[in-house]
Amino acid sequence: KSILLINGPNLNLLGTREPATYGSTTLPQVVEAAQKQCTEKSITFAHLQSNHEGVILDCIHEARGNVDAIIINPGAFTHTSVAIRDALLGVDIPFVEVHISNVHARETFRHHSYLSDKAVAVICGLGIYGYEAAIEYASRHIKPKEN
Ligand code: DQA
Repeated sequence: KSILLINGPNLNLLGTREPATYGSTTLPQVVEAAQKQCTEKSITFAHLQSNHEGVILDCIHEARGNVDAIIINPGAFTHTSVAIRDALLGVDIPFVEVHISNVHARETFRHHSYLSDKAVAVICGLGIYGYEAAIEYASRHIKPKEN
């Protein structure tokens, strides 16, 4: 099995960015924990963080045929990007949408996601534990693609 983790814009600032909302754990720490979790389950793991929508699109396209599940925190692109939605649908890879904060307890513009109705699951408000929960779920329930 293989999992691709994608973190969108500003998530490189994790740990120092609005710590009251996003906590004090850094992105490298999140990625290291995710890598370890996958290794223990014999799952192939890859990660991309990008502040550029096009780079995220290219990464999703390249995942086609190579990845069984995508776990994505699209950051602010959640609320703006029809293109990321279309890319995820285009490659037909099941995905879990993760948000560190409870977006529904925040500004109204964060309540709408262009991805949620197509996601296998949406996790928000669990802090960085959301990534761990998503990987656990994917490892148990998402089937490897038959080639
Ligand atoms: C976020 C929530 C988004 O609204 C915000 O733009 C982010 C992070 C979260 O993880 O809580 O960048 O996706």
